[in-house]
Amino acid sequence: MSESILTQTPAWQALAAHYQQIKNVPLRDIFANDATRGERLTAEAAGLYLDYSKQRANNETIRLLLRLADERGLRAKIDAMFRGDKINVTEQRAVLHVALRAPRSEKIFVDGVDVVPEVHAVLDKMTAFAERVRAGAWRGYTGKPIRNVVNIGIGGSDLGPVMAYEALKHYSARAMTFRFVSNVDGTDFAEATRDLDAAETLFIISSKTFTTLETMTNAHTARAWFLAQAQDEKAIAKHFVAVSTNATQVENFGIDTANMFGFWDWVGGRYSMDSAIGLSTMLAVGPENFRALLAGFRAMDEHFRAAPFESNLPVLMGLFGVWYNNFFDAQTVAVLPYDQYLKRFPAYLQQLTMESNGKHVTLDGAYITNYQTGPIYWGEPGTNGQHSFYQLIHQGTKLIPCDFIGFANPLNPLGAHHDILMSNIFAQAEALAFGKTVAQVQAEGTPAWLVPHRTFEGNRPSNVILADKLSPETLGALVALYEHAVFTQGAVWDIDSFDQWGVELGKVLAKKIIPELESVAAPDLKHDSSTNALITRYRRLRGRA
Ligand code: F6P
Repeated sequence: MSESILTQTPAWQALAAHYQQIKNVPLRDIFANDATRGERLTAEAAGLYLDYSKQRANNETIRLLLRLADERGLRAKIDAMFRGDKINVTEQRAVLHVALRAPRSEKIFVDGVDVVPEVHAVLDKMTAFAERVRAGAWRGYTGKPIRNVVNIGIGGSDLGPVMAYEALKHYSARAMTFRFVSNVDGTDFAEATRDLDAAETLFIISSKTFTTLETMTNAHTARAWFLAQAQDEKAIAKHFVAVSTNATQVENFGIDTANMFGFWDWVGGRYSMDSAIGLSTMLAVGPENFRALLAGFRAMDEHFRAAPFESNLPVLMGLFGVWYNNFFDAQTVAVLPYDQYLKRFPAYLQQLTMESNGKHVTLDGAYITNYQTGPIYWGEPGTNGQHSFYQLIHQGTKLIPCDFIGFANPLNPLGAHHDILMSNIFAQAEALAFGKTVAQVQAEGTPAWLVPHRTFEGNRPSNVILADKLSPETLGALVALYEHAVFTQGAVWDIDSFDQWGVELGKVLAKKIIPELESVAAPDLKHDSSTNALITRYRRLRGRA
């Protein structure tokens, strides 16, 4: 198999040469020589304002990054996605999460079938169901209304719903309780249900495939937990609904397919929070807010599709990600939302970014040996991170580009809290970019031996994303911003951002090991010596030696 040719392309080579010129130029100097940079190097769309002026880049950098996007055929690739081409080549599937937020009037074809009417049919079914549950008209087996909703799913069938629930809690039905069970560790289920009354509880079994081991194990446990109280299989129909693409498996599990909310193989798991996988979100915030969320996604989709690349938020963010990942050798990106409601946003982004772009071969199957693909994403809500890991970002030996996310208007105005919170975003981005020089530290009378410790080199790049307030629309726009930034990077790296073969091997091996752990008779272990010893020790500790 041949090697990828990305690094031989003219734009890449030009960027590599340009990097040598700019790598030591301090942001302090760049700003000093350009009084309006902070206003100019910004872009705005779908209610989000992006300040990218603190990137280690000048006009030439941006020109070359945009040229790279052109050379990599980004425009044609965007068009292919929106058109419904099968751009997920290894699974031979279209990639149409953008169809989930298309208006009824739009037509998008997959294999000759317009998918938009199906999308709206499911949305309408979700709406009718959510309205009944929220109004107390959908009754449990004893006649009590539903007060508790437990979403059982994992990966894309969990992280999006949890993140959206937490992010939009302010808009949620406070009289209802929402829980999310994902881990196959029994503790997750036990803790989520320990104080719930089965008669008032609705389980949403969310699984695209309806075969995922963790989800099916938890779903069967939920069934047993429910029946222990209800004592009647017929009661299941009122307490279990499914979200899946797999009607046969849903039926096999015992859920009436009338209570199934479908989606399609052209929705990737990590791109599915605005499909029926968002049923728990709709139950929490109501159909109107859910549609506002979709409108936010849609506004960013339209911007991504139509805006020139030089003012296109996802394109710019994606390209700066490439700049640090591939030329500065930055290995990670910190996502730092200054909003407590976004506390699960970094975890959500980890699947979106790393399952999408953690790939080692190109679309043609050529091994990627001479450039890096997806970086590691991580983060915590501000200001907590400041008292934990920011030390390393400010003074460590690693370069960590940061995305700060903040909102002008708080959802919980409390005294001076919000100004204090937001002052910290601005201060952190400023400190990271401009630091504190030796001369400044000396001028404060710092003893010479302490000067190096108190000096901040600066030149740590960041984006600041600012919006009016955290609303369903803003959340949709924010998620779509990252979805499309990931797409932009995948297009540059020439990888399939929509498959996830890397998760398979571990699943297969676990299935093989389960009976070895469970068996009463000592199994004939044929793993490596480490795995054999661990299994043997585990069996002994469980009294199965
Ligand atoms: O194991 C990874 C994965 O396939 C994710 O891509 C997906 O979001 C998750 O598992 C859950 O899959 P499902 O919705 O089919 O249960």
